[in-house]
Order: sequence, then structure tokens, then C-alpha cells
Amino acid sequence: MPQLPKTLNTYYETARETTSMEMRAYFLGGAGDERTLRRNEEAFREAQIIPRVLQALTGGSTATSLLGQKLACPVLVAPFAYHCLLDSSGEIATAQGAEAQSVKMILSAQSSVDMKAVRSASDSCDWFQLVWMGSREATLALAQTALAAGFRTFVLTIDAPVQGVRDREIEAEFKLPPDIGAINLAPFGQPRFAALKEGESLIFDRIAHSLPSWDDIAWLIGTISAPVLLKGILHPDDAARAVGIGAAGIIVSNHGGRVLDGAPATLEMLPAIVKKVGPDYPVLMDGGIRRGVDILVALALGAKAVLVGRPIVCGLAIAGSLGVSHVLRLLRDELEVAMLLSGCATIGDITQDVVHLKR
Ligand code: FNR
Repeated sequence: MPQLPKTLNTYYETARETTSMEMRAYFLGGAGDERTLRRNEEAFREAQIIPRVLQALTGGSTATSLLGQKLACPVLVAPFAYHCLLDSSGEIATAQGAEAQSVKMILSAQSSVDMKAVRSASDSCDWFQLVWMGSREATLALAQTALAAGFRTFVLTIDAPVQGVRDREIEAEFKLPPDIGAINLAPFGQPRFAALKEGESLIFDRIAHSLPSWDDIAWLIGTISAPVLLKGILHPDDAARAVGIGAAGIIVSNHGGRVLDGAPATLEMLPAIVKKVGPDYPVLMDGGIRRGVDILVALALGAKAVLVGRPIVCGLAIAGSLGVSHVLRLLRDELEVAMLLSGCATIGDITQDVVHLKR
């Protein structure tokens, strides 16, 4: 058995030290000056947890339920692209690592392994991340293909209609190797844009014409026969609109700081969003979660569950499926310790009283 890092921080440091400049830029970098990437993490560092003593905690657990599904722990593997760049088994390795910890994985639309192969390799990977494919028909066709492959819950990512300006990737000249790509999207085609004429803007005269409206998303949600969560919401009014069009839940996310640099930390926007949609609506969040205590803070501020991206990237990069499983186990062990020390026996006990926010 390979020697695994002993702590989460060693996973993160080792991944930074041992991956190539291109891989570091793609997987660990963010957009622009990486202000949002850093801010996501800093917001957690600023939250403080108030210990409680002498509480009765026997019989507690991290188990919870979400959209009627049982979770061993309120953590899901975030959808991220091209796992084959990190491990030769790609998304299959990640899905098996998640399954070993009974953690759900959301398969990225940009998976580098065939969705059927990933689905059949792991019971835990039955959530699929959809992306707008340029038209209602093409997007629905992608969803139907995923349904036929056995996926049961959808996450539609709406915060990356255009790729962020990622300086580090540009400097590193990051390119996908010819044998790795978004193989599940290939059959549905990508929007092709006519050449720009003098004075035209790629963003406003081409890309903007292929983007969905709220009506398109409402239609999709009403047409797909499975729950659809919207990922990438940061404004309370957008959250209310998602509820209004029948989204099964929302994921408060800024795409891990990879799209709009300067966007606020997700943790900072979470309380206003939960206030707007009410405490019972399924609000999930991601961005900056690196330790078990961060999960506790996100739940205290109203998230029903969290997604983790880069911690899984690091686990996969260092030790494949075993690394993914170990990172998830360490996160859960830390969450359990934090729950005990803050007097929370169950996930339902984690309320706002647990945290003290520095202002
Ligand atoms: C992502 N993310 C992402 N999201 C998505 O909906 N579809 C995708 O294909 C990808 N691809 C992707 C690639 C890489 C390399 C990263 C790091 C992230 C965003 C991801 O789902 C999630 O929102 C963030 O990773 C959460 O932030 P942390 O946990 O990485 O801080």
C-alpha cells in the first residue's frame, strides 16, 4: 500500500508540490488574480466555532437526508472535469473512492470517462451535472442519455456561460492532451459560431445568443423526470427565482473562483440566500471547504450539505481512488470531532448559535 499523507493539509501541500505547472494551473488555480479563490477559503478561516461542554451526545451521527436520499455525511463530491488528467482510471477511480465512504459523487458533464462506465462502477455516483448545450433539445437529449445510463438527480450548472479569464492557465499554456476530452458531450455537438465581422464582439454578438433564459431553464426542469438543482447561485433574488421555477434545490457556488474573479465568497452570501428561500428549502454550497470544521460552519449558516472540489482533486492526484476515499474520511472524522466539541450530536443540532463570525 502506498504511504498516504496523514493529514488534509499534507494532501493539499503535496499536490501543489508534485503536480506539473499545467496541472496546478488547471486544477488548483482560479480566474484573474484569484481573489475569489482565496476569499472562499478566508471566509471560513474567519468563522469561529464556539465550544460547548458537558453535553449529552451519545448516539449522534453525521447521517442526514437530502431530497429524500440518505447521506452518511452531508458532503458530496463536486463535479469537476477531466479526472483522467490526474489518474488513468479517471472518474471511475473517484467514484469508487467516494463509494468506499458512502459519499455521493456528481459526475461532471465534462467527464473524461463514459458516463455509463462510471455509473456502473459505483452506486454512489448517481448524480449528473448538466450543462446548457446551446438549445433545449440538445440539453434535454443529454439529460435523457444520463437518465438512461442510470443517473437519478441532476445538477444544472448555470454560472459558467463563458470561461473565466484564467491567467495561470494562459501562462502555463494548458491544453488537453489529444486522448482526453469531454467524451459524453461529443454526440450532442457544441454551438459553432460564425466568424466575427469588423466591430463585432465574441461575447455579445455570438456567445450571448446561445445562452439560456430563465424560461428555458423552467422548461427543462418541468420536462426532465428527475429532480434538478441549479448550481452557481450567489444572489438572493436568483435563489428566489430558482425556487419559483421549481428547482429541487440550489447550490450556492462561484465555481471555486474559476469564473468571475471578484465575486464574493460563497460563505458570505449563504446566510442572505437561506433567509430569502427559507430554512426548509434545499440550499447546498461549495467553495473553500478544506477541513471538517468548514463543513460545520457551512451547515451552521444554513447549508443542508456541501460539495468539495479541490480536496478531491488532491486526493485523486496523490493516491487515486484510495486518496479520494482517505480525504473524504479525514473530512468526516474532523466534522465528527467538531460536532462533539460544539455540542452537536446530529446534523440537525448544528445551528447558527454554533458559530461566531468576525465582522
Ligand atoms: C470545477 N468545477 C466544475 N463545476 C461544474 O459544475 N462542472 C465542471 O465541469 C467543473 N469543472 C471544474 C474543474 C476544476 C479543475 C475545478 C477545481 C472545479 C467547480 C466545482 O464543481 C466546485 O464548484 C468547486 O470546485 C468548489 O470549490 P472548491 O471545493 O474547489 O474550493
